Amino acid sequence: MLQIAVLVSGGGTNLQAIIDKINSGELDCKINRVISDNKDAYALERAKKHNIDTKVIEFNKDFNENLLSALEESKAELIVAAGFLKVLSSEIIHRYRHKIVNIHPSLIPSFCGKGFYGIKVHEKALERGIKITGATVHFIDEGTDTGPIIMQRAVAVMDDDTPQSLQKRVMEEAEQAILPESLKLIAEGRVYIENGKAKIRRIIV
Ligand code: GAR
Repeated sequence: MLQIAVLVSGGGTNLQAIIDKINSGELDCKINRVISDNKDAYALERAKKHNIDTKVIEFNKDFNENLLSALEESKAELIVAAGFLKVLSSEIIHRYRHKIVNIHPSLIPSFCGKGFYGIKVHEKALERGIKITGATVHFIDEGTDTGPIIMQRAVAVMDDDTPQSLQKRVMEEAEQAILPESLKLIAEGRVYIENGKAKIRRIIV
């Protein structure tokens, strides 16, 4: 069973989607620990409700060192950044190369990179007047939202969308589906890297 640690900063709807899939038996993973940079993150309450070990790491000069220790201590084989809004150190990225997954609320490479996170992504998308948006699951590398893409799902933008309505639809229709789906593929050993790209091994029956 794949042992994971989940990094969170906010509401934790993506964390909840992972917990629900594990509890329904559809995802063969164990969440060893939920780690947050924000002591008030509602995601921590969600974890506690399910008796998952939680840890808050204060954002100070030792943040990256403490985060790395907390991850190593958790014995997680895969790290999931599920709405985690801090940039990871190159040391952590190096230690967990192709073992840190992130969910981003747009179709990368649109509306991503520095300054594009949370509701800001949807504000920018609506400002530009795009008709299709979505979400992306990718491995984290040293760049911002530049790592190998594992899965994407498109969501239509409506003329009367607000950033909030669009965010909700992207979360419900895309993020909460493709994050557990990606974890399932990784847990099954079906995701591999070839020429810097993530690929999915097909099952031949
Ligand atoms: C999600 O929309 C996630 O894609 C986004 O933050 C939100 C967290 O929601 N992440 C980023 O913008 C990372 N660049 P949640 O706490 O309810 O899962």
